[in-house]
This record gives sequence, structure tokens and C-alpha cells, in this order.
Amino acid sequence: MRLYKAGNYNEMSRMAANIISAQVIIKPASVLGLATGGTPLGTYKQLIEWYKKGDIDFSEVTSINLDEYIGLSNAHRQSYHYFMHENFFNHININPNNIHLPDGTANDLEKACIDYDALINDTGGIDLQLLGIGTDGHIGFNEPGPAFEPTTHVVSLTESTIKSNTRFFSSEENVPKKAITVGIRTIMQAKKILLIVNGNNKADILKEALYGCITPALPASILQLHPDFTVIGDEEAFSKL
Ligand code: PGA
Repeated sequence: MRLYKAGNYNEMSRMAANIISAQVIIKPASVLGLATGGTPLGTYKQLIEWYKKGDIDFSEVTSINLDEYIGLSNAHRQSYHYFMHENFFNHININPNNIHLPDGTANDLEKACIDYDALINDTGGIDLQLLGIGTDGHIGFNEPGPAFEPTTHVVSLTESTIKSNTRFFSSEENVPKKAITVGIRTIMQAKKILLIVNGNNKADILKEALYGCITPALPASILQLHPDFTVIGDEEAFSKL
């Protein structure tokens, strides 16, 4: 496990973008596991800036997103499809055929989960997985539970996740209560994992995730076992370490 402390959110974002950029330069046909949420926004912004300067080429990259709400159309402004296009894909030269997110609108959600795992398998696996962490310790939408779920699955979001995501919706009632997420095995099979974390509200859970017991009650704790795991956090997030 490697820890890098950044002075602030922008510095954290630049450091994370540096690692992603190095990955794509070294292996142009990289498979990137990507995340949504407030944390990676600055990282995507930085990558877009470097792309526009001509410093990075995403034309051969494949992207695999971690999760998607169930029941929101791709055009819904709070869907993760929309988020990723609005905040990243529309501004870089990634091939649209190489962009993948779970299908939260599928009639047969079980089949959608199986198909997503097969697709990830067909890409040859994720080279670099970008992650945020929820205040309840979730990664992707793998919520605290009795066991680590290995594969892509449907999940009921916890109260704390619904509350935390209410900031993106007009009211708590409008936050979807279910989502599709890749499983813990898929995340752990990524060749490299990059966790980014900022803010005081993540300080306690980050400490527990990195130095506490490895338990499905805190899904991010399993990252301690990954052989190539990097954490970049700002001073506030690292304040309890
Ligand atoms: P956030 O979410 O980046 O919006 O804090 C992180 C997460 O839920 O994984």
C-alpha cells in the first residue's frame, strides 16, 4: 500500500490524473476502471485539460464504470451514464464503442449483471481501477454486508449512501434505492488500484479501511490485500492516519 498526501483537493486530483495519464502513455490500449461521485471530478477535469493540450491520447482506451443506478434512463442527469459523458467522455477522444457502464434500465437485471462480467472478462481485465470511498466504506456500490459479493450484482443502497447522494437530487425520495455494481472480485482483480479521498467526513472511515480489520462490514478494507494499491488523499482525509 502506498499513501500520498496532497495539500488539497486540486493537488490530489492532479496526482491522480498523473497516475492515470502515465498508465495510458505506457499502455495506450489500457482498460480503465472508472468511478463517479464528487471525488473524481477534479481528476477528470485535469485529464481533459491534458488531453486538450495534446499530452494524452484516449483513442485506444477502454473504460469500465463501476456502477449505475437502477431505473434512471441514460439521459437522466443523475444517471452515471450522463455523469461520465458530461464530465469526461464528451471531452476526450475515447471511442464510444469502448465505453461501458452497467445497464440499470435492463428488464432482466440478472442477465445484465452476468453480461457485464463477461464483457469485463473479454477486455482482458482492468489495468487501473480508480475508486472513491463512501462514508459507510463502500467501494463502487458494494455496501457493508455479511459477505463480500464477488461479481456484478444488484444492491440495495444503505440509508447513509441515499442520504449522502441526496445532494445530487431534488429530494431524498428521488434518489434511486437500488443500483448495479461490479463485485469485489472484479475490483480486486484490477492490476492496479488507485483510491482517491478528500474531506474531513472521510477521515474516520479511511483510517478504519486502511488499518482496521478486513471485513465485509467495511468493504474498502479488502483493499489492504491488493498488491498494487495506491491511496491519494488530501490533508483532511488523512488527518486521522
Ligand atoms: P463521493 O462518493 O466521491 O461523491 O464522495 C464516493 C463514493 O461513494 O464512492
